[in-house]
Amino acid sequence: MHVHKLEKIWLTFGGLMLAAFLVVLTINAFAMGNTPPSDLQQIDPTKVDQTPPFDKPGLVKISENEYDLNMIGYAFGYTPALVEIPKGATVHFHVTSRDVMHGFEVAGTDVNMMLTPGLVNSVTKTFNDVGSFLILCNEYCGTGHQIMAAHLVVK
Ligand code: CUA
Repeated sequence: MHVHKLEKIWLTFGGLMLAAFLVVLTINAFAMGNTPPSDLQQIDPTKVDQTPPFDKPGLVKISENEYDLNMIGYAFGYTPALVEIPKGATVHFHVTSRDVMHGFEVAGTDVNMMLTPGLVNSVTKTFNDVGSFLILCNEYCGTGHQIMAAHLVVK
């Protein structure tokens, strides 16, 4: 079979571009750590209430003004429903769902996660200003979806 010289050049060029694209994509996805930061820890969704740290949900002080905040989303609310932290606190959110998919958005901040049963979502945020934040579910989850909320107070 005869392949025209220009055809060979363009086939080679196309192949090299595809290889370069896959290399860049792979480096971005893995080597640079651009994979989604959450969803890494698994949990049995039927045993959330018995599995640490979710057997005692709430705020845990881990160092000077730094906290783990373990929360559970369920139809239709969050445990705990009210969290108070001091100004300047760094909060490591660890949130899971014990039933269906829910959202976890701290309104007015960049904290916004999708809660999937069986997975623990984590994100870290420092709250430098005094204020009250609404935590809401932004993933339709059933008839009580619109009342699913909690409050985070920075004081
Ligand atoms: Cu939970 Cu919508």
